[in-house]
Amino acid sequence: MKPFQPQKLPIKDIQWDSLIPLIGRANRSLAYYDGILYGLANPDILLSPLTTQEAVLSSKIEGTQATLGDVLKFEAGDAPVEESRVLDIEEIMNYRRAMHHAEEQLQSRPFSLNLLKDLHAVLLDGVRGKFKARGQFRSSQNWIGIPGTPIDKAQFVPPAPNDVKPALANWEKYYHTDRPDPLVQLAILHAQFELIHPFLDGNGRLGRMIVPLFLFERKLIANPVFYISSYLEAHRKEYIAGLKGLSEKTSVAWTRWIDFFLTAMDEQAIDNAKKARAIIDLYARLKKDVADLTRSQYAVPLLDCLFKQPVFTSSLFDHQPGMPSKPMIMNMLARLKKAGMIKVIREGSGRRPQILSLAELLNICEGPEVV
Ligand SMILES: Nc1ncnc2c1ncn2[C@@H]1O[C@H](COP(=O)(O)OP(=O)(O)O)[C@@H](O)[C@H]1O
Ligand SMILES: [Mg+2]
Repeated sequence: MKPFQPQKLPIKDIQWDSLIPLIGRANRSLAYYDGILYGLANPDILLSPLTTQEAVLSSKIEGTQATLGDVLKFEAGDAPVEESRVLDIEEIMNYRRAMHHAEEQLQSRPFSLNLLKDLHAVLLDGVRGKFKARGQFRSSQNWIGIPGTPIDKAQFVPPAPNDVKPALANWEKYYHTDRPDPLVQLAILHAQFELIHPFLDGNGRLGRMIVPLFLFERKLIANPVFYISSYLEAHRKEYIAGLKGLSEKTSVAWTRWIDFFLTAMDEQAIDNAKKARAIIDLYARLKKDVADLTRSQYAVPLLDCLFKQPVFTSSLFDHQPGMPSKPMIMNMLARLKKAGMIKVIREGSGRRPQILSLAELLNICEGPEVV
């Protein structure tokens, strides 16, 4: 198989007519989701678990096994026994760190290939990133196939190293042009990025990170939080087949890919909206409940901490500004436990502290019984 020669963007022969109803629907769903984000007073707190869950699922498409519960437990100090699970968690935490870095950078400069390289360096920081040319576009030929298979048995051979830079320059230029429909543009951007496959590893995850970043930069969503990987993971075969089909460079393949991607956007916008709404409602309800149960002026700061880190030990509150004394916190936590709002997920013993969770919040993010 010869290295792929990518088409120049924009893609010319898309069958727009068949896509129009779906374009309308996906844009409406996204606007509905954005309406929910728009009213958020404290997005950092409320959207934090959704960002982590996207990192979990996007990494899962690539084969990591760790769950949202594993990541949150790890952050609370409960590490799994298996080494591979720890490495999974490390990758997921890198993913989230890369997202936060991008969000911060986009406040002051537009998206660029340099930012993309920075994100790659953050994503592959650690054991598994060794020998993967961290933060660098590749200078050797890569291929996609079952691990260990030679290049002549590859499913797909991305462009030759010398073709990568021009293809990326064209991709970056297209990213910043105003196309008639930004969601179709995003579908093409994601696919073309995977076809160029500019890094030795991490292309899938970086290509999916672009989704919320692009939507945010185009002001289609008020916060760079959009959770698409759950659809791609659930339809993994179709996702990969759609990308594979693009090697043919036909109008039918592109139109089919865009159809798939817009369906994903539409369904996930609705799902994102549902989850964001449920989190907002939960926060409002618990704010009242915590105040009633503790009768404390510290009720809201305490709840905010729980939303930011829903799996925790009591030392979570130790160095937080505006928090009361340790005995007072222990007293508040005891009341919340008694009321069933927070649950013990690991009993303390000896020097191992007890681990607690705000189970309802986790259930919204990942479905029931996460931890
Ligand atoms: N036949 C294909 N053509 C183009 N892209 C593909 C194909 N098969 C898989 N992909 C993309 O490549 C990604 C995997 O590439 P990789 O560099 O290993 O990324 P990561 O390390 O994030 O998994 C998949 O998630 C998918 O987006
Ligand atoms: Mg990989």
